[in-house]
Amino acid sequence: MSLFDALQPATQDPILLSFQDFMADPRAEKTNLGVGMYYDAQGRIPVMRAVAAAEEQVMQRQAPWGYLMSEGLPGLRAGAESLLFGDALAGSLRGRVATLQTLGGTGAIRLGAEVINRLQPGAVVAMSRPTWLNHPSTFQAAGLQVAEYPYYDRATGEVEWAAMREAVAAMPAGTVVLLHACCHNPTGADLSPGQWAELADLLAERRLVPFLDLAYGGFGDGLEADTAPVRLLAAKGLPLFVATSFSKSFALYGERVGALSVVAESAEQATMLTETMKSITRNIYSTPPTHGALLVATVLGDPVLRADWRAELESMRLRIVGTRQALLDRVGRNSGHDFGFLTRQKGLFSYSGLSVAQMQRMKAEAAVHAVEDGRICMAAVNESNIDRVAAALRAVTQEG
Ligand SMILES: Cc1ncc(COP(=O)(O)O)c(C=O)c1O
Repeated sequence: MSLFDALQPATQDPILLSFQDFMADPRAEKTNLGVGMYYDAQGRIPVMRAVAAAEEQVMQRQAPWGYLMSEGLPGLRAGAESLLFGDALAGSLRGRVATLQTLGGTGAIRLGAEVINRLQPGAVVAMSRPTWLNHPSTFQAAGLQVAEYPYYDRATGEVEWAAMREAVAAMPAGTVVLLHACCHNPTGADLSPGQWAELADLLAERRLVPFLDLAYGGFGDGLEADTAPVRLLAAKGLPLFVATSFSKSFALYGERVGALSVVAESAEQATMLTETMKSITRNIYSTPPTHGALLVATVLGDPVLRADWRAELESMRLRIVGTRQALLDRVGRNSGHDFGFLTRQKGLFSYSGLSVAQMQRMKAEAAVHAVEDGRICMAAVNESNIDRVAAALRAVTQEG
């Protein structure tokens, strides 16, 4: 008997499977729309100007690479809080926010889930239908139970707000409600500011616990608007969890930079939350990594670099907005499918509404790869592949 006799094949992530498929495709014209990264007009992952400048500073710093404290780099934590909460930190939120540096947004979500499970073992987390594939498994891995609320109407391509509101209004007090702060993954359909305001009232009234996943800040309606739900919910005085990822907004995917911020009801609670979070991470990876955090902290802590980073992030957002329009112009009119969603949806993804069979045809006939649920990465569309992508979309929808 060996320990390894019990090994079973693990379930494969469909996004990684799609990537493997793409890599194995021998066709030269192949295009990968299955990814979750921002690519520039030339199809490259950018090195942002401010990040490159920060890297120069970091390389010249001539300091030893000791351990960070378990909370993470102070500049990263302060930078994350300033982005999320702005001026309120000096006023109404003073001392009530506990922020820990995490391993990307995924690390922040998992840490938040672990904190909740310590405080309320087996608590229920309600998430949108559909949601990012890793959401249910990450919360379950921490011991929480997963429930769903209606979110996206496939027929209209819009948020089914009335059904969502009704479901939230029926949730028992204490239910954790996972919300995508902006650029909903995979649908690209976001709540309007009016719907957010109504939702905030409902969450407060029902004493629910909002958990915001902020993975695409800056890619939706701009950084200010994309982070507005954080400030709206923080102002309600509810316990609030915010998982911030810097992977996309700083193009620092492999550096694993993120932060978990928890808004408590008092400064004493915030201190205890920080200690709780530290005690959890100590037994997983002990202390977080330095390099990526130094880059983000350097950019956010320097007014000139910060302004340049924001300007470049905005230009990345606008490139996707332009690509959405350009693709709609190419496929829109004479197809059997309504492609109006392309310009209504926000962020990196569009949920095309295409069937599994149509997605498979795009791959087989045109070498256009994407996730079979119909999610396509708009940020991977560029001048050299847009005509091919448009032709593939038209071909599979005209006859289908
Ligand atoms: C909705 C959502 N949340 C969180 C993350 C996690 O990001 P990170 O790569 O920083 O772990 C992603 C990444 O794709 C995401 O799409």
